[in-house]
Amino acid sequence: MSNTILVGAQWGDEGKGKIIDFMTEQADIVARAQGGANAGHTVIVGKTQYILHLIPSGILRKRTTCVIGNGVVVDPIGLVEEIDGLLKAGIDPKGRLHVSDAAHMVFPFHKALDAAREALKGKNKIGTTMRGIGPAYGDKIDRVGLRMGSILNPKRFSEQLDQGIKRANAMLKALGAKPVSAKATRESVLKAARRLKPYVANTFQMLHEATAAKKRILFEGAQGTFLDIDHGTYPYVTSSNTTSGGMCTGSGIPPTMIDSVVGVAKAYTTRVGEGPMPSEDNVVGDLLHGMGREYGATTGRERRCGWFDAVTVRQAVMVNGITDLAVTNFDGLDTLPEVKVCVAYQVGSKRFDLQPTDLDVLARCKPVYETFPGWQKSTDKIRKWKDLPLNARRYGQALAKLTGTRLRFASVGPARSQTITL
Ligand code: GDP
Ligand code: IMO
Ligand code: MG
Repeated sequence: MSNTILVGAQWGDEGKGKIIDFMTEQADIVARAQGGANAGHTVIVGKTQYILHLIPSGILRKRTTCVIGNGVVVDPIGLVEEIDGLLKAGIDPKGRLHVSDAAHMVFPFHKALDAAREALKGKNKIGTTMRGIGPAYGDKIDRVGLRMGSILNPKRFSEQLDQGIKRANAMLKALGAKPVSAKATRESVLKAARRLKPYVANTFQMLHEATAAKKRILFEGAQGTFLDIDHGTYPYVTSSNTTSGGMCTGSGIPPTMIDSVVGVAKAYTTRVGEGPMPSEDNVVGDLLHGMGREYGATTGRERRCGWFDAVTVRQAVMVNGITDLAVTNFDGLDTLPEVKVCVAYQVGSKRFDLQPTDLDVLARCKPVYETFPGWQKSTDKIRKWKDLPLNARRYGQALAKLTGTRLRFASVGPARSQTITL
């Protein structure tokens, strides 16, 4: 392996953090390139569970360098909290964590705008994570955002921040929402900015120098393919390109320097927030929630659950150029006598092998299921592919075949050791 992109192949929370942690053993650098603190990546090392929002999951391995690339939107206050959390756990990211000087920032007023806009949408709300992601990317596209590099010049940064507060408060007032306190915002942001100064770097140059020195980069995608601003179920999406192309623009590493793309999918489907999900099924939801699983890592919200949707993952394989599939949470299906897979969608007599773009049509899509025999055995202690029950192996290979890719990893539990390589 040299440079590898890892992306979510569904609607986020596929287990990317866990697979990144496992794959980091063979990487020198782990880089985030899009999204922000809307991400919640769970990694379990020994008996400790870490939930990372902005910092790449590679930080948990001592020799790994971590990069937050230009495409990420960085909440400086949140990032300092995350650094402090790691320090408390005995992990010092200084010298190993580098934040792009070109990454845009998320301020408290972006979060206030996120909440105000969601409230205004009423029943048409997106169900965002309220982390200010949409408004921050909005400012970036509108060319009024502030980048991490600005904190290196505190006087100018403070003036620019004041302008941002003024602009945001005018919008908040227009939306009928409470403006943010200029003083409190200024104080909290400037305090965080002072702490973050040593982390700011030209990560574009750093990554290119690293690849020239034959270092291996692992890109940690956030969210999932169907939350992509272009390829997802718009408007029920996030505000960045979560697909493999986003890792290139969000880091400055071109597609010609990428060797493989790993797509992560659960053995079933989950989604948080609003929007269509054709294979949603309460039978799966009741089973998983009954096991105490599938609650959001960022917001604690109950995730919506359903059967594996081969239509979506097939499309994810195409749009991302997925070369290898990692299927997680096999163990979630251990008790079932039968396991269903949505192999196509149907509206009236029309069959779809890929997602229709029109959301109204997608909302009317009925899943066409193929049923597989279950394995009804615990898989969580199994470490070798050949030792998995035959029906579990057949199921895993069927998922790869139905989606047009190769199965490379099977995950049977949240811990690092519960990962099977094929
Ligand atoms: P991410 O956002 O893609 O990194 O995924 P999350 O961390 O938000 O959600 C995945 C959840 O599934 C977390 O609670 C993980 O600890 C857990 N997980 C990952 N892989 C497995 C697995 O194979 N089995 C079980 N039981 N849990 C898993
Ligand atoms: P990870 O990286 C799952 C969803 C939200 C909402 C929509 C827009 O942990 O897989 P946003 O706050 O981004 O404007 O919300 O996207 N969403 C996620 N769902 N996992 C995530 O990240 C998500 N990040 C955003 O629930 O539907
Ligand atoms: Mg998550």
